[in-house]
Amino acid sequence: MQLLDAAKSFLDGKIKADDTLVDFTAGNGHDTAYLCSLVPKGKVYAFDIQKEALENTRNLLSEKGYENAELILDSHANIAKYVSHFKCGMFNLGYRPGGDKSVTTLTESTLKAVTDGIELMEKGGVLVISVYPGHAEGEKEGRELYSLLSSYDKAYYSVIQYKMINSPTSPFIFAVEKYDK
Ligand SMILES: C[S@@+](CC[C@H](N)C(=O)[O-])C[C@H]1O[C@@H](n2cnc3c(N)ncnc32)[C@H](O)[C@@H]1O
Repeated sequence: MQLLDAAKSFLDGKIKADDTLVDFTAGNGHDTAYLCSLVPKGKVYAFDIQKEALENTRNLLSEKGYENAELILDSHANIAKYVSHFKCGMFNLGYRPGGDKSVTTLTESTLKAVTDGIELMEKGGVLVISVYPGHAEGEKEGRELYSLLSSYDKAYYSVIQYKMINSPTSPFIFAVEKYDK
């Protein structure tokens, strides 16, 4: 199974047509477009710090005919300024395919965005985080996210790590579900 398919599978059955979703790393817009397709009566907030990323995302959404996204040129660490609550969200960490490889997600802002995201996520929601440990900052993000996420109370959250154990530097996923209780 490809990582992207696995990431999407964690959202299966969790989302209703009028839900609010968040793409924390819009990049070229593929995940934003996917999320838009899941909530035809709802809304997707998509963050990126690169103008070019949001331009690519805007173009892809218009090609596909989606009008239910709000694109935000700001760090996902500032999510609380823009979003009061949401059902499910996705992070695809690292740098934008085809873009400037020096603009990558960074551990400190990623940890802040994940912490605030979990706080703002509705009960029954899932946050899916794809991590790329093949470069130094990605390895650090993965390690620190593991440490942060393992501290969440199992009475209220399930936190899953999904990874290829025969390929340690391959991308892997964390999926955080906030129980509906
Ligand atoms: C791997 S790409 C995302 C791919 C994207 N989901 C897609 O479907 O094309 C990671 C993106 O995260 C963005 N990024 C880096 N730091 C960020 C931050 N603090 N807040 C929001 N986006 C950030 C980068 O600019 C880059 O476009």
